[in-house]
Amino acid sequence: MGDYANSTGTGCPLSALSDTFHLTNEQLEETFHRARAERPVFYLEDIGFWAVTKYEDIKVVLGDKERFSSEITLEPLAPVAPEVLQLFKDRGFSPRPTLSNNERDDHARIRNNALKAFSPARMKKLEPYIRQLVNEAINSFEADKKADLVRQMVYELPALVLFKLLGIPDGDVQKIKMWADSRLILSFGRPSVADQLVAAGHMADYWDYCLAHVRKRMEHPEDDLPSDMLATRNGDDSILTVEDINNVVFGLLLAGHETTTNMSGNAVLSLLEDLKNWDALVADPSLIKNAVEECLRFRPSVVAWRRLVKEPVELSGVKIPAGERILCYLPSGNRDEEVFDNGEVLDLHRKDARSHVSFGYGRHFCLGAALARFELKVLLEELTRRLPGVRLCEGQDFEAVEAVQFRGPKELWIEWD
Ligand code: HEM
Repeated sequence: MGDYANSTGTGCPLSALSDTFHLTNEQLEETFHRARAERPVFYLEDIGFWAVTKYEDIKVVLGDKERFSSEITLEPLAPVAPEVLQLFKDRGFSPRPTLSNNERDDHARIRNNALKAFSPARMKKLEPYIRQLVNEAINSFEADKKADLVRQMVYELPALVLFKLLGIPDGDVQKIKMWADSRLILSFGRPSVADQLVAAGHMADYWDYCLAHVRKRMEHPEDDLPSDMLATRNGDDSILTVEDINNVVFGLLLAGHETTTNMSGNAVLSLLEDLKNWDALVADPSLIKNAVEECLRFRPSVVAWRRLVKEPVELSGVKIPAGERILCYLPSGNRDEEVFDNGEVLDLHRKDARSHVSFGYGRHFCLGAALARFELKVLLEELTRRLPGVRLCEGQDFEAVEAVQFRGPKELWIEWD
């Protein structure tokens, strides 16, 4: 299993799952394989979570709201300093659980009404913009015969698409991206108190921005998601409150781009690892729709997703008491031998590719799945059309972004003749 086995110092090879980004893709997959075979459910001492690695167990944990709560999904991994809580209080920072971490009964109402803003018509409207962004990026590096696809394309792309959806003016994009990075650091990183305070200030800035943005759309509706949600609300608080809309706009910033950036990197890397897959898409673009699903299954960007145990449960024969925290390892579920034949192989023709759990499962299933799928499809259509002879540059180690629950290559160097 290599050196990584003891990287967390506890001696158990599976404990490497506490910090997945230290592992190569192959090491990660091997660790999952071993966990499913030997200890499908086990405790990760370092981080105080139970690891769940089998497909059916993952579906039970994500899908059963009576026994598992999602209230901890966005809780900061590291404890938040009291100074940060004071800063939030002083700044009137008051978002409340609305979608991912909302266990109240109003989740379904907010979710169903927010979902209307992700209609096929809205996706169609975004299509020319997504194609334009991909093509502009290709134009900018085509003559170099070489590019880092992450830095030069997919780092920015999903954020720009999301900003378009939210109706955020181009001039505000840079500062909002900075605020969004701060949110990620505070929720999923392990920052020092000084860094926490900077990040918290940015989050409060973004909260203020969201309130002002929604207020503006109330006065002057435009062709975007906040205006769509306000139209759905039509002044009726029993459909959506203005507070709900503020919170959805605020929440989408985190959910909506880091995940897609990493997934785009994972998808292109997976397809180029064996060029016969890339060549197949070049020859027959109708395969791209299923290729998107298969890439999502094969190497998803959300590595682990959380739930809190509400009452004593048993998973794969392991008893877990109430109050414990669980991490569902989605990439492991996606390769479970009992569900996917030959799951370790990327198969563009796989019939059940879409059964993956990369967007979660049940009532919290990813709200942006249609948008993410659409973006990935357009990205692959344009890349295979414009750069059919592309290949991976040699000598790369595909280091993963430093995130505990998310995964994608930091850089992805590709070249062509
Ligand atoms: C490839 C890209 C993406 C992946 C892999 C992904 C994955 C996930 C996962 C694993 C969950 C948790 C589901 C659960 O708890 O069962 C989730 C929830 C969510 N995602 Fe995504 N996501 C992606 C893109 C997006 C985009 C583009 C948006 C919005 C524009 C978005 C918005 C959300 C929201 C709002 C939730 C919470 C839904 C709820 O609790 O009702 N995601 N996503």
